[in-house]
Amino acid sequence: MIKLALVGYGKMGKMIESLAPKDQFTISGTFDVINPVKEHLKNGTDVAIEFSTPASVIENIEFLSSRGIDVVCGTTGWYNKADIVKDIIKKYGTGFIYASNFSVGVNIFFQIVKNAAKLINNYPQYDTGIKEVHHTQKLDKPSGTAIRIAEYILDGISGKSSFVSDSARPEKNEINIISERITDVVGRHEVDFESEADTISLIHNAKSRRGFAEGALLAAQFIKGKKGFYKFEDIFSDLKLK
Ligand SMILES: NC(=O)c1ccc[n+]([C@@H]2O[C@H](COP(=O)([O-])OP(=O)(O)OC[C@H]3O[C@@H](n4cnc5c(N)ncnc54)[C@H](O)[C@@H]3O)[C@@H](O)[C@H]2O)c1
Repeated sequence: MIKLALVGYGKMGKMIESLAPKDQFTISGTFDVINPVKEHLKNGTDVAIEFSTPASVIENIEFLSSRGIDVVCGTTGWYNKADIVKDIIKKYGTGFIYASNFSVGVNIFFQIVKNAAKLINNYPQYDTGIKEVHHTQKLDKPSGTAIRIAEYILDGISGKSSFVSDSARPEKNEINIISERITDVVGRHEVDFESEADTISLIHNAKSRRGFAEGALLAAQFIKGKKGFYKFEDIFSDLKLK
């Protein structure tokens, strides 16, 4: 049985609570901006699932790690500070796992994009672009998932060397990520390979937050009792998925 704290009790925290199998998890506490974990955590938590905000995430990780609690982190918009978090995890000797997107489907999509980019690399007549659409409350732009997709494409296509956000005139060596914010869209990512003759499109569309929550719960089972900094996509293919 995993004693699980939910740090950040918004749309994701609540979805995770509703899906956590009762024979595998007990919820040891739920925390948000008006009930901060630092002030209200009681003893007896194995793993915390952290879905809060870019402004609060690092402080939460530091506090939880200092209490010996392993952390699953789904908050996005902080990864440029990953070195700080790696130092925290090392200092306290705890386990930590991050994904910009915990959805099993998106992690399959990453592999499809990776393979597609390698193939397209042989056909320089195709240019590559990314579109992402999310709900209007999303704080970061482009999405962490779109950035990860761009990184897979940069690895695979030699003619591309960087990505830009919402550029009106991207250079030939740049991947343009176009971001749109529309009410109630959970998350849609599209990769377009475009030539003068046609467009090849790959699309992942999240129907609900369910996929993110299920992946975060798989990550909680993985991280309990482990030490070190992990990324979900690195261990994803080793997980025993039903
Ligand atoms: N990795 C993924 O798979 C994935 C999927 C969906 C969303 N996200 C990300 O997760 C984060 C949360 O998303 P959401 O849709 O649940 O947002 P939300 O706005 O519904 O919830 C955010 C929660 O964080 C709480 N919060 C604010 N400050 C806090 C603090 N100091 N300590 C603890 N909690 C605090 C708020 O009170 C709220 O309960 C965002 O960064 C979002 O981009 C990631």
